[in-house]
Amino acid sequence: MATNPTQIELIQPDDWHLHIRDGEVMKDVLADTARQFARAIIMPNLKPPVTTVDLANAYHARIQEKLKALGINSFTPLMTLYLTDNTSADEVRKANVAGIAAFKLYPAGATTNSDAGVTDLKHCHDALEAMQAVGMPLLVHGEVTSSEIDIFDREAVFIDQVLEPLRQDFPELKIVFEHITTLQAAHYVRDAATGGKNTIGATITPQHLLMNRNAIFSGGIRPHHYCLPVLKREEHRIALLEAATSANPRFFLGTDSAPHSKGAKETACGCAGCYSAFNALGLYAEAFESVGKLDKLEGFASFFGPDFYSLPRNTKKITLVKQAQSIPHELPLGDATIVPLRAGETIAWSLA
Ligand code: NCD
Ligand code: ZN
Repeated sequence: MATNPTQIELIQPDDWHLHIRDGEVMKDVLADTARQFARAIIMPNLKPPVTTVDLANAYHARIQEKLKALGINSFTPLMTLYLTDNTSADEVRKANVAGIAAFKLYPAGATTNSDAGVTDLKHCHDALEAMQAVGMPLLVHGEVTSSEIDIFDREAVFIDQVLEPLRQDFPELKIVFEHITTLQAAHYVRDAATGGKNTIGATITPQHLLMNRNAIFSGGIRPHHYCLPVLKREEHRIALLEAATSANPRFFLGTDSAPHSKGAKETACGCAGCYSAFNALGLYAEAFESVGKLDKLEGFASFFGPDFYSLPRNTKKITLVKQAQSIPHELPLGDATIVPLRAGETIAWSLA
């Protein structure tokens, strides 16, 4: 690859962590994702959460209906179930047979719609054992929730208090440490001993590769830069960028694009979540180019995710061009609007 390419071709990527919500707004956000990605892991934190195979099947049908209305037949939603204190081993086995891609662990109270999350992993022993037995991945929102722990430390503390003990108890369980935000998480995943098995991975969002916590406060409070886990210091951003561009197959693309209406963000107690789906690939290309590693984008975006999930890689190719694209100030979101990441600015890379 030329040192300063103006165009790159890659196998079509997938998004291994995505929120598309439900109802009317789903149509707007699905269209943005399906323009770029072939598949996406659909997060189950609806209200009420998607806790059973039956609920996931019904959600899947609603997604297919919206895709049909949009005339999209090239996008595959990969469904997940929300782990609770009461998830049974039977439900896990049923999910495996039904083709559910993964379970998601939200520590209770950690983030948007996580009230029904797990209060203590000891309640989940049977479900985790069943997941390990059938090879069902567990996706973790890796933050402790205790209010005494500083919000910037919650991910690092989670590693010691929850993740490491979990991996000791279930050494064969496939775990994805979702949307990692710290040097500690990047190094933990990089250095984890797995006996050569494919048992740990991590997703990384575009915002955590491109911004540090100053972006939440630059010139005033910036609600559209607030997501969970919250942006961290520059040293953490650098460690994440290093991990993402290292060609280590444990690190792969997951946008965590999390739509909330403009009104729900720009208020006294704004929701957590960045909407990156509008031009997520352009954002990732910018991050990789910033360290001269565009040649490492395809592995991160298109190969390592399906390899981890034991799914076939995509075959279709896409082209990204270095051609400035203006990002609108607002986009439609059902009856409301949404402010995308980089609203009102330009992004250097976009889909051809
Ligand atoms: C997500 C959401 O809004 O659903 N928000 C976020 O800031 N990332 C929830 C989550 O993934 O934590
Ligand atoms: Zn998320």
